[in-house]
Amino acid sequence: MTGTAMLEITGLTHAFGPGTGHPALDDITLTIGEGELVSIVGPSGCGKSTLLRCVAGLIRPTGGSVVLRGAPVDAVPDGLAVVFQDYSRSLFPWLSVRDNVALPLRRTRPGRAQRQAAALDALGTVGLTGTAQKYPWQLSGGMQQRVAIARALACDPVLLLMDEPFGSVDAQTREDLEDLILAVRQDRQMTILMVTHDIDESVYVGDRVIVLTPGPARVRADLRVDLPAPRDQITTKALAWFVHLRTEVSRLVRGQPGDAGGPGSAGEAGRPAPGDDSRDRNRSRAARASQE
Ligand SMILES: Nc1ncnc2c1ncn2[C@@H]1O[C@H](COP(=O)(O)OP(=O)(O)O)[C@@H](O)[C@H]1O
Ligand SMILES: [Mg+2]
Repeated sequence: MTGTAMLEITGLTHAFGPGTGHPALDDITLTIGEGELVSIVGPSGCGKSTLLRCVAGLIRPTGGSVVLRGAPVDAVPDGLAVVFQDYSRSLFPWLSVRDNVALPLRRTRPGRAQRQAAALDALGTVGLTGTAQKYPWQLSGGMQQRVAIARALACDPVLLLMDEPFGSVDAQTREDLEDLILAVRQDRQMTILMVTHDIDESVYVGDRVIVLTPGPARVRADLRVDLPAPRDQITTKALAWFVHLRTEVSRLVRGQPGDAGGPGSAGEAGRPAPGDDSRDRNRSRAARASQE
């Protein structure tokens, strides 16, 4: 379900180096609801990865707080998994696909058989049951990234963080992986925070798109994506409202003023009728809260 706060980021500030150092995040405040899939976009080098690392407890921020289901994050919390862009460096070439997926479960699941069963289950979820005995280097890039996603899912996370997860695969594979993430989210009711530099992707998968300013990152805009479900690579992307939203995000990333529903925009013409999307039934207005 959506609505209840799963993640509360308040006044988050981070600078690398001593003193005020090199500022990367500037006063970021965001609330993410249970079950939401939130896309994060912004110019290269603005602080997207730093934000995700602070949420993951991998970086201790210089100011502000991150609270996950009521508990302050000051180390990597249980129930959180991360998928990075560079799958080739995140999988161990000397371990089979199944052992790669099972490895992180050692801390939480004592029995080997139990770990292997959980790994096979996660591989089934990403459509890779037949590759369990293979090694990562025997698989295509897209399949390796599926393994990395399976490894994240095997520990049954409540919050999945993804940092440009599909940045290294071809366009067709990317679309398949986007649909995989939508299906997994639907099945497992997870909350997902996904950084991407692909604006179409941010709108296609997201319930919301957060646009960050050039570094140090601040929240420039928080757009509600009220597109009908289920989403489909062909029909959703052909909708006038999809084109309107992706244009809006594109403008905001480039620092131009947004134009949601304003003069000269697609306006209300392409907006889906309330109730088209059961997930969005109670939030059919595209709310853009500019914090600038
Ligand atoms: N470990 C680090 N030490 C010093 N500076 C860093 C470190 N990691 C990132 N930065 C700097 O912080 C800024 C934000 O980086 P990052 O979060 O990786 O941006 P993005 O993911 O949006 O491309 C950049 O200027 C980058 O050079
Ligand atoms: Mg990055």
